[in-house]
Amino acid sequence: MKDLVLGIETSCDDTAIALVDEKGHVHASAIASQIDIHSEFGGIFPEFASRAHIEAIIPTLDIVLKKAKVDQSRIKAIGVTRGPGLIGSLLVGLNTATGLGLGWDLPVIGINHLRGHLRSADLEEERVQYPAVVLLVSGGHTLIAYMEDPTNIELLGTTRDDSVGEAYDKVGRMLGLGFPGGPYVDKLAKTGEPTIDFPRPMIHKDLEFSFSGIKSAVARYIAATENPNHANIARSFVDAIMEVLVKKCSVALKRMPSKSLVIVGGVAASPQLRAEAETLCKEMEVELCLPPLKWATDNAAMIALATWDYLKLGIHPEAKPDLQLTIGDY
Ligand code: KG4
Ligand code: ZN
Repeated sequence: MKDLVLGIETSCDDTAIALVDEKGHVHASAIASQIDIHSEFGGIFPEFASRAHIEAIIPTLDIVLKKAKVDQSRIKAIGVTRGPGLIGSLLVGLNTATGLGLGWDLPVIGINHLRGHLRSADLEEERVQYPAVVLLVSGGHTLIAYMEDPTNIELLGTTRDDSVGEAYDKVGRMLGLGFPGGPYVDKLAKTGEPTIDFPRPMIHKDLEFSFSGIKSAVARYIAATENPNHANIARSFVDAIMEVLVKKCSVALKRMPSKSLVIVGGVAASPQLRAEAETLCKEMEVELCLPPLKWATDNAAMIALATWDYLKLGIHPEAKPDLQLTIGDY
């Protein structure tokens, strides 16, 4: 019985492999993190990332097959992230998938990393009530989409420059915190007061985002202030970001008939964002759907689940590379 999809994700700094069935149940998943390699640089070093993927990918595959106690005879197809991401990192996953596909005589389907994130809230159990507004906030991307169902996705708005995660990470670095900055900035923010009036970028610009200006505003404030209070900076920064994210969600929910608001991507791990989104959803009378924390950040299970969408619809990936989702030009 061929009842599993093998997902492979190597778009950035995590080597991730997972086996997922048609219902989104995760039979096994393993992630080799590179945080220790990159933290001394305070950001991802692309050449080191590719090299670490090469070292980790086959051992990670072995771990997953052993955990699930299966061999390739149970695998129906291989789904692999084909972009967006770091090209050297993506190539490791793509080449591995191609080799396995040839060796095991299995179809290989290239999956948009963002589509994977958008599907991540349905891993393990079907949580999302469609139609849904989905906010994707990760280290590499920020966008808001409308999903009529898992395969009908309309992009409503995206960022003109940086992602929310990138802003968190850079502010974390400015405050001398660990990498990636998100969780550290969040933690520090809890101890501070919102004393600084940082800009709310693009707050009145419909569903567009921009986060490079707030990074510069924080840098300028630090440079111009004697003994800046780091906790207050973190709190003021987080409050500004939250106000923008919640406003965009509310605009999208008012415009699009929705049963739920879904928040995915690494920044969905933020307790502040979770709390603010809950308040908004109560007001708007929609369900809030969040992936468990381990599926909010990069993983291969979400790539495998997105691959099932292709298989179920019988869509030939080359004929229609990414269903109706057109994000980026990779
Ligand atoms: O989705 P993800 O793992 O990778 C990408 O696809 O980019 O997201 C990583 C991002 C990083 O910028 C990290 O700082 C942020 O998610 N992040 C958080 C939290 N945990 C991770 N941001 C805010 N609060 C958190 N608790
Ligand atoms: Zn991601």
